[in-house]
Amino acid sequence: MGKILVTGATGNVGRHVVSQLADAGLAVRALVRDPGRARLPVEMAQGDLTVPETLHPALEDVESVFLLWPGFTADGAAEVVEAIAKHARRVVYLSANVPDEPVTHYHEIERLIRHSGTAWTFLRPGGFAVNTLGWAGQIRQGVVRWPYGQASRSLIHEKDIAAVAVHVLTSGGHSGATYVLTGPEQLTQAEQVRVIGEVTGREVRWEDQAPDEAREQLMAAWGDPAFVEDALRAWEGLVTVPEPVTGTVERLLGRPALTFRQWAEDHVSDFR
Ligand SMILES: NC(=O)c1ccc[n+]([C@@H]2O[C@H](COP(=O)([O-])OP(=O)(O)OC[C@H]3O[C@@H](n4cnc5c(N)ncnc54)[C@H](OP(=O)(O)O)[C@@H]3O)[C@@H](O)[C@H]2O)c1
Repeated sequence: MGKILVTGATGNVGRHVVSQLADAGLAVRALVRDPGRARLPVEMAQGDLTVPETLHPALEDVESVFLLWPGFTADGAAEVVEAIAKHARRVVYLSANVPDEPVTHYHEIERLIRHSGTAWTFLRPGGFAVNTLGWAGQIRQGVVRWPYGQASRSLIHEKDIAAVAVHVLTSGGHSGATYVLTGPEQLTQAEQVRVIGEVTGREVRWEDQAPDEAREQLMAAWGDPAFVEDALRAWEGLVTVPEPVTGTVERLLGRPALTFRQWAEDHVSDFR
């Protein structure tokens, strides 16, 4: 099997893609912006997805690419997809399970890849369990004040996204497939906090925050009104229509998707 280039190799998902491919004895190259800082057990190539010309040396002799896109717009993605299609035969793109409207950078990048001439598979995960690390500070204080405690999600362990990526990169029959990936169960945000409390042995309670108060705080933290409104609208919607559970991880991997409790157990030290 030819060499696999992993982008986002130091991130939540990519670092597991790298280690799982390396454990399987496959030829892996990690694209990193700063090889001095990235501690990875595989060959590294310096490159930046926002500087497409840096990608050609990294793509030399590469058969497949695991691609994530770090930006919130698709600016510059056309050149990157073109460079990948010039060198590699297959791309597995870490997209997202978002509605068809409004059109986002995920749709735009999928469209670019579809038209690039290279074989492709799209992974569309829902919410990442690792997003709940954003509550770590409040969990240490014993109370999480956040809006929409009854918003329910089927959060996925980053290891499962990586395992699916590795499966797709190393087996046939996935060309042109789009996989919607979720965890195995729905948990409300308040239940997620309860599980984290149980697993970490901390007394922690949920306190529903009024959306207007949350809007103010999130604006101060994120600075982008559209982003804040989208997030609040999404959580509100998840109260009445919980994020669905798909059996795709189990169907592809032949074992159940990891639970949120298993995710929390893997991250106990991050909540210390
Ligand atoms: N969080 C969610 O709920 C969710 C849901 C669906 C999809 N997603 C998508 O998942 C992706 C994030 O995955 P993740 O959580 O594994 O990533 P992450 O932990 O946020 O890490 C980002 C990675 O991208 C690399 N990177 C950042 N800017 C780069 C650049 N200009 N050129 C090359 N590499 C760059 C970083 O490398 P260095 O900083 O080390 O250089 C790092 O390895 C995003 O595309 C996001 O939209 C997220």
